[in-house]
Amino acid sequence: MTAISPSSDALKQQISSLLRDELVAVRDCLKQQFRNRSGFIQDVADHASRFRGKQIRPILTLLSARLSAQTAASTQQARRFAAVVEMIHAATLVHDDVIDDADIRRHVSTVHRRWNTETSVLFGDYLFSQAFTLAATSGDAEACRLIGHATNRTCEGELNQVAARLEHSRSERDYFRIIYGKTGHLFAVSCRLGARASGLPEKSQRLLSLFGARVGMAFQIADDVLDLTANAERTGKDSRNDLQNNRLTLPVLRALRLGNESERKQLLEFLEHSSEQPEATAQDCPAIRAGLDSASRSAERLAHRAIDCLQHFPDGPERRTLAAIAMFAAGRPC
Ligand code: IPE
Ligand code: IPE
Ligand code: MG
Ligand code: MG
Repeated sequence: MTAISPSSDALKQQISSLLRDELVAVRDCLKQQFRNRSGFIQDVADHASRFRGKQIRPILTLLSARLSAQTAASTQQARRFAAVVEMIHAATLVHDDVIDDADIRRHVSTVHRRWNTETSVLFGDYLFSQAFTLAATSGDAEACRLIGHATNRTCEGELNQVAARLEHSRSERDYFRIIYGKTGHLFAVSCRLGARASGLPEKSQRLLSLFGARVGMAFQIADDVLDLTANAERTGKDSRNDLQNNRLTLPVLRALRLGNESERKQLLEFLEHSSEQPEATAQDCPAIRAGLDSASRSAERLAHRAIDCLQHFPDGPERRTLAAIAMFAAGRPC
């Protein structure tokens, strides 16, 4: 199956023409979760949702559900699961920003900068428990197990990332294990839950899950490239946060592997001093360029391998949009 690389405007248009009503319903469901809460909780929730993210996980759920004919009940179930995965994602971001000591998220101050760490930790916990409560209203015990499992894996991924830094790991194997955990699993379950809501058979659920895992990993590699190449105006979050936290992501690991001795030395010096030079960018270190290209190519390969999983499904606008999202994930501009 061939894939075109869509511009993000064309892709947004494509998604909106298929899912406009569904996404409004998912947003209403999310708002509903905070209705009648205390003024403070409402303030934090409003702040955290001030600028919407890309909503890629709920979009994957809704598109996966539409790969088969839907009923009113399956549509409602897919919307519920879409809201659940977005809430879990939001919870991981609130906690991640504490872990990464980040200043900006979605163009506004992170919760811990706007308030404090205790608010972030508790609000993240609150989002997780709200998500699990909402999942339980689905009446689908296996879906709840899958959601719990994906959340466990996300936390394990973040913990393994801490371990890799403590151990100064330069292993690509560790890197891929980390990103599969922290990002791949939630993407996988986002697709699988959509398929489940529509009653697609186990084989289809598994293929969509694999599709999601590969897209999620491509998405995370692209994020790690953007961390080094894009500014906060473009991404809405801190740039070079991985460097500041001594996190060796794929572009850096590849640069270390591909560079000759003097390039490696130059890169190690750059990494060592990068936290003292907040204005330095990856462009200041030519040795890193080959690593950025190589990592981007790996993300593209993963996107193509994700698209292979869609062969099993009949051609149509939903399948084509899923394929376009896979390519977007690998080469995203922000
Ligand atoms: C950010 O996810 C965390 C990563 C897995 C890289 P998104 O880029 O999906 O965040 P939002 O929801 O669009 O802000
Ligand atoms: C985000 O990871 C957290 C999870 C994937 C659980 P990153 O730290 O790499 O993402 P950003 O760059 O802060 O969004
Ligand atoms: Mg982060
Ligand atoms: Mg990052």
